[in-house]
Amino acid sequence: MSENNAAPDVPAWLTDTRTSYDVDASGYAEKVQGLLEAHPHLRAHLDVFVELVQRDGGGRVADVGCGPGYVTRYLQDSGTEAFGIDLSPAMVAIAQRTYPDLHFEVGTMTNLDLAAHSVAGIVAFWSTIHIPDHAMAGVIEEVHRVLRPGGHVLVGFHVGDSTEHASSGYTGQPISVDTHRRQASKISDWLREANFQIESESVFRPDDIVPGGIVLARRRR
Ligand SMILES: C[S@@+](CC[C@H](N)C(=O)[O-])C[C@H]1O[C@@H](n2cnc3c(N)ncnc32)[C@H](O)[C@@H]1O
Repeated sequence: MSENNAAPDVPAWLTDTRTSYDVDASGYAEKVQGLLEAHPHLRAHLDVFVELVQRDGGGRVADVGCGPGYVTRYLQDSGTEAFGIDLSPAMVAIAQRTYPDLHFEVGTMTNLDLAAHSVAGIVAFWSTIHIPDHAMAGVIEEVHRVLRPGGHVLVGFHVGDSTEHASSGYTGQPISVDTHRRQASKISDWLREANFQIESESVFRPDDIVPGGIVLARRRR
């Protein structure tokens, strides 16, 4: 998929992820409709994150890999100044159309277009799942750079040890995207190495084939 449209300095996996979500944006948006309403444990983690951001003085919160924007909406309605960033222009278009009062922009967590110390919090819900291991340290460095000292990061992910390749999207169209499943301890270790303090590690429905994981961490001052 990447052979015809790869930019010289953009890795093929990133181009493939963007193209795949562009192709599959409407299918994905439909699939996740009502997800937060159906999953109180997800809302609970977002609520804890919001409370900590507010306790530490409030400020802007970036929903990185925001997809169709429903988490950005929840963060804003819970009392933060939330905005969304996503790799896929088609996904950003859906988010902007669905929530015209919020701000969404195209960007990549591998190179965030945000000033150092400019945000109070970052949520990355099921978006680092598309970052290969060798690029994760760079992403976490970016998160560390843009978070203000004491800022919070909430990472949601698929739990496991495998990488799955998808070649067909929710609407049946051809895509090419890898999804990396990880143990919570692996995410936490990467964060620790970048000078974050781990606040919590959770695993949801550990008996499912693909459990959900959430790690909450705080940038040390
Ligand atoms: C599984 S969806 C999750 C969307 C949303 N956060 C949610 O929880 O429903 C993954 C999203 O991450 C985005 N994404 C993947 N790689 C990214 C990157 N390097 N930078 C920003 N967004 C990325 C994709 O375009 C897609 O919208």
